[in-house]
Amino acid sequence: MLWPDPTVDVWFLLLLVTAHLEQTKVMENGGVKRGIVIKDEWPGYSLNLFTYPEHYHEDIENVYIPHGLIMNRIERLAHYIMEDFWDNKIMVLCVLKGGYKFCADLVEFIKILGRNSNRYLETRVEFIRYKSYLNDQSTEDLHIVGNTDLSFLRGKCVLVVEAMVDTGKTMQALLKHVQTFEPRMVKVAGLLVKRVPNMAESLTDYVGFEIPNRFVVGYALDYNEYFRDLNHICVISKSGKTKYKV
Ligand code: HPA
Ligand code: MG
Repeated sequence: MLWPDPTVDVWFLLLLVTAHLEQTKVMENGGVKRGIVIKDEWPGYSLNLFTYPEHYHEDIENVYIPHGLIMNRIERLAHYIMEDFWDNKIMVLCVLKGGYKFCADLVEFIKILGRNSNRYLETRVEFIRYKSYLNDQSTEDLHIVGNTDLSFLRGKCVLVVEAMVDTGKTMQALLKHVQTFEPRMVKVAGLLVKRVPNMAESLTDYVGFEIPNRFVVGYALDYNEYFRDLNHICVISKSGKTKYKV
């Protein structure tokens, strides 16, 4: 009788373990912490391949991240959040104006996942607004617009929802402000994290996409209040920048 060679099994097992570890590494580096990484040379999709509001025809160069992909990624972020906020109520702090679509879709996915898994995560949404951009240039200070009193966060598990994190300076300032109200736990969801020098990757717990250092608009991200009504995330064209400059 022929016995199988046990060394073959050992090698096979080793191969499986290595493959699994590699996969885990990819998940930790690329998949989870950095989100979907968009490379510097990504040209975006041709406008002809998608639908978008006619009034922006001349003002955008390409579709950088299609709306469908944004939605799929947000659904995945909702999964991560459900895992981390096990059996808790969640206080969502939506950063306006850019974060309103991301926040609404994220909360919706959390609700759907809750219904489908019978593990409902109670969500309450509050809003904060600050201004730190003029045209496409970042100014460094945190100017909270309106009510700065966030005492409703005290003792709560807080999820800060922000559409765009770049240098992280404003996020850092906001988190410092949030901490003064002594929440129980604070996590940050950022739909887009920009790959800038001194980028603040570690501030964001749930990253949708890591993107190159380019100015993008759409999906509630604006250029002087324009383009929020565009569903895809797009790169603004030269003429668009000129047309809507203040
Ligand atoms: N687009 C719109 N708003 C922004 C951006 C951007 O790329 N970066 C910071 N705020
Ligand atoms: Mg803006």
